[in-house]
Amino acid sequence: MWLQQILLLSGLVTLCFSLDNGLARTPPMGWLTWTRFSCNTNCEQDPDYCISEKLVMQMADHMAMDGYKEAGYEYVCLDDCWLAAERDVFHQLQPDRKRFPHGMKYLADYVHSKGLKLGIYEDFGTKTCAGFPGSEFYMELDAKTFAEWGIDLLKFDTCHSDARENKYGYPAMSMYLNQTNRKILYSCEWPYGELQLNASIQTDYSAVRTSCNTWRNFWDVSDDFNSVKSIVGFYGKNNALFQKYSGPGGFFDPDQVLVGGFGMSHYQQRAQMAMWAMFSAPLIMSNDLRSIPAEAKQLLLNKYIISVDQDPLGTMATKLWEFNGLQLWVKPIVPTGSLAIAFFNSNNYGSGTPLVSVASDLGMADARGYQVTEVFEGTDLGTLKPDSKLSIRVNPDDVYMIICKILS
Ligand code: GLA
Repeated sequence: MWLQQILLLSGLVTLCFSLDNGLARTPPMGWLTWTRFSCNTNCEQDPDYCISEKLVMQMADHMAMDGYKEAGYEYVCLDDCWLAAERDVFHQLQPDRKRFPHGMKYLADYVHSKGLKLGIYEDFGTKTCAGFPGSEFYMELDAKTFAEWGIDLLKFDTCHSDARENKYGYPAMSMYLNQTNRKILYSCEWPYGELQLNASIQTDYSAVRTSCNTWRNFWDVSDDFNSVKSIVGFYGKNNALFQKYSGPGGFFDPDQVLVGGFGMSHYQQRAQMAMWAMFSAPLIMSNDLRSIPAEAKQLLLNKYIISVDQDPLGTMATKLWEFNGLQLWVKPIVPTGSLAIAFFNSNNYGSGTPLVSVASDLGMADARGYQVTEVFEGTDLGTLKPDSKLSIRVNPDDVYMIICKILS
């Protein structure tokens, strides 16, 4: 019973304060340049892979054409390195003219014409992480500029700034964005800046949630499963704290989804996708939609995993236990009483971990019983009652994930 109560409570905790811009009622979904295309500005030698309007337009085309938009992916986002080296004579930000010959308004119009939204990147400090002009001293002007261009999301980084000032600077930018009257989703790196300071700053997540729609709070993800494991580990360690602040309007951002990349096996990629869904994390992919492997595309479009991520409760899963590298995570979803359950195996040896569990030990304690579906194949596992047994095997570096809908 206690288990059921904990899970119910974590699903019902209501968050009093959140950014009141009506956005991110469920975690944002989209695409971002950073991990895959990084800061490649060399369009002369590498025209198809450099940060340019052409790249963004091509990704928007694929998002609209290939089923991503229908699945919920909405924001096409530029990260660092879109800017010219200097502001213009009026101090206004300007894109690099060679790489963005038609300007940002044109690009936003194009993305909007595909039924999608355009995201952009700036930095709270004097420079962006890659050394382009930052927003410090210009936040109001920059917010107005983004609104004039038709920008729909701002990722606001924390390089070249004093992270002790994040608690003033990030809310200020939030206010300026709201003053534009354009709905701009605000994606902050405020807690990550405080983490990097390595001082004893305890991030005030309540304040972060009041100003931001999503917030990065850990190191950059890289296309490598050790990186994914360290993020899952960090979220596990801070599970009880983080759960309090995740919900409609504001979500923790463990960074981009690298499904379709080079560095992880298919099983590792699906483990990342599944855990991000369990966290109610933004599903912002960074990959090349022009040449994505079929099984990666299928995973990105998996309707079961997306439904868990986009569940209207917006709860972060509870980590129930960890034993010999195997973790059990459980997330309340709608209709009330239903659950998503994921076993995450951080071991990378052997032929997997076999398990026989009693359903109630996994959180399925309601006598009405559950209709259970395995998410990757969509296999119907039938009905489980609290005393039913579930026999599974969790592959190394993989997850086993099920959706358990309460029976009425
Ligand atoms: C930081 C951020 C990354 C990316 C780069 C860009 O490292 O955390 O997500 O935006 O800067 O330079």
